Amino acid sequence: MKQKIWYTYDDIHRVIRNLAAKIQASGMKYDAMIAIGGGGFIPARMLRCFLDIPIYAVTTAYYDSDDLGKVTEEVKKVQWLDPVPEVLKGKNVLVVDEVDDSRVTLEFCLTELAKEDFATIGIAVLHEKIKAKAGSIPAGMPYFSGITVEDLWINYPWDAEDIDEHNRLAAESST
Ligand code: G4P
Ligand code: MG
Repeated sequence: MKQKIWYTYDDIHRVIRNLAAKIQASGMKYDAMIAIGGGGFIPARMLRCFLDIPIYAVTTAYYDSDDLGKVTEEVKKVQWLDPVPEVLKGKNVLVVDEVDDSRVTLEFCLTELAKEDFATIGIAVLHEKIKAKAGSIPAGMPYFSGITVEDLWINYPWDAEDIDEHNRLAAESST
């Protein structure tokens, strides 16, 4: 079984602060965030405290698709900016997600968003997993990650049913 790691809300807050500092140091001025739900919602809200720009949202999910009897998983839209609001046209948008894992979801979202009339698209993720990537990010697209991590399974606090137990496991795994 894949090794696991637990992060607390405080751990995540510190990573977001680091992420915001990198975005600000780049000199790029983003007009809005586009959070990829569900994992990108809470990070985008925490990031807003530093960037002070509005949050828009899209949500994707993996579905089984049956292609000639062969079942594969593919990313589909649950909710989208359809149409993209007029105020975002010609603007710099920052796509926010919690984790850069296989990049399959990221590639899907970036491909769809690239069809729209934005000036530039950047990407911000909390955790950048160091691993081989199945999906890709367009060359030259601004990319920011709060921290790089090993290819472990991350347990996020917003998925915890018992936050005290989650925090205990986080304390244990960090020693
Ligand atoms: P990527 O493009 O951002 O790299 O995502 P990828 O398609 O590889 O990830 C598939 C789903 O698995 C995503 O959830 C992603 O958030 C989740 N995921 C990947 N690695 C981890 C991990 O270490 N821990 C946790 N908790 N989740 C991980 P999703 O389909 O977008 O669902 P949601 O939970 O964000 O709603
Ligand atoms: Mg996600």
